[in-house]
Amino acid sequence: MSEAGAANRGRAGKKAMSEPFLEWKTVYRLGVEMLDYEHQDLFARLNELNEELLRHDEREKIEAGLGEVYARLQAHFALEERFMREHKFPGYAEHKAEHDQLLDDFMEFMLRFERDATLSYGEPEQATLKHWVVDHVLTSDLEMGRFVASHPISGKP
Ligand SMILES: [Fe+2]
Ligand SMILES: [Fe+2]
Repeated sequence: MSEAGAANRGRAGKKAMSEPFLEWKTVYRLGVEMLDYEHQDLFARLNELNEELLRHDEREKIEAGLGEVYARLQAHFALEERFMREHKFPGYAEHKAEHDQLLDDFMEFMLRFERDATLSYGEPEQATLKHWVVDHVLTSDLEMGRFVASHPISGKP
């Protein structure tokens, strides 16, 4: 193996051991303080849930974790939707439809787990969850955040 290959392999091994599942990066910042705070908080909670699923923690603990994440997502999406309405964001309908789809997908995962607590959770499921969260933040949320940050609510300074 080449030196670079060995170095890459070493890095990959280290990554698996020490880096969190979802790592907060400054490119995720929307510039809307409350939403940025909630995104970081959601990332942290999803990291815990990921660990619980990987460790096959007790069913009650995982069910409670899934329920908590679902409730937090609902509240977070409701807050973003309020911001979008207040700031008259033109992409509101599409963004809300994405939120509704994400909640449906998460509910589907929860129900599958309830039906079968031995549900497999490994790299493919992790990749889906990661894409699901990061793609939405990096595309739709960033677009909305830029708009909200640059369009004050009319009538307010
Ligand atoms: Fe968001
Ligand atoms: Fe969003």
